[in-house]
Amino acid sequence: MAMTDVLRPGHVSLRVLDLEAGIHHYKNVLGLIETGRDSQGRVYFKSWDERDHNSVLIREADEAGIDFFAFKVSSRGALEKLDGRLREYGIPTERIPAGEMLETGERVRFRLPSGHDIELYADKTDVGNGMSYVNPDPWTKDAERGIAPIRMDHCLLYGPDIEKVHDIFVNVLGFYLVEHVVMEDGETDLGIWLSCSMKAHDIAFVRHPEPGKLHHISFMLDSWEKVLRAADIMSMNRVSVDIGPTRHGVTRGTTIYAFDPSGNRFETFSGGYQSYPDWKPIKWTWDEVGAGIFYHDRALNERFLSVVS
Ligand SMILES: [Fe+2]
Repeated sequence: MAMTDVLRPGHVSLRVLDLEAGIHHYKNVLGLIETGRDSQGRVYFKSWDERDHNSVLIREADEAGIDFFAFKVSSRGALEKLDGRLREYGIPTERIPAGEMLETGERVRFRLPSGHDIELYADKTDVGNGMSYVNPDPWTKDAERGIAPIRMDHCLLYGPDIEKVHDIFVNVLGFYLVEHVVMEDGETDLGIWLSCSMKAHDIAFVRHPEPGKLHHISFMLDSWEKVLRAADIMSMNRVSVDIGPTRHGVTRGTTIYAFDPSGNRFETFSGGYQSYPDWKPIKWTWDEVGAGIFYHDRALNERFLSVVS
């Protein structure tokens, strides 16, 4: 249920150090479906139950990290409206023509004060999830290959100026704050979790001095049992696991953090509560930040705040 012009996270473009190792990871270990390759050398993937052509792109580069994260909006009219609102707010926008990304319409790109490039787009080809739109079966064989998440769900980005980022998402893009973690002064946000839907988060930010950093891209599973299965598959494939399986206090999701072969952190999670825009945001205080991030350990591991790509 879209409650704003922004429907949902749509795609992420990641840099990997070795394309073949990246393809193996995203296709065979994470279990996404490869949907195309373009003339720029980008490889496109989607989760088995996503219907649009792509949600994850990887390209080879000298440094790992994120190129851009995109949201699908409800219509071309909404795209025009949001582009105008961004420019009115003082944020320059760039138009990327339809077709620059495979099966994807025109995109509006802008840079956040945190140093991250965000895109909005209205059109992407519906290639379906492999099941009929009439009398469908519940799943396909792709739902059992690798970890096989349902969808690319959200991201957590690290960068400076998260107050300005918060203001842009709430007052320009129509998101709302679901949860936040405050620092020792009890006021300044260390982290913010924002939603454009009924999900507990569609995007999140943590304060960090270096701009444009990726903490993790998250993929949704439909049960705690599948989170445990994902941990088995990670071990079978010698994936570098950061933490978990465990539970977040923030959003209540059950989770594993791990790294792709290039050091980009990814999350496989299930659960988390459903939220509404009229709900009062939940606050986590500095003394309980450990439980907020990792509810069972009640302590942050060193890597959570320091390792980003
Ligand atoms: Fe997450």
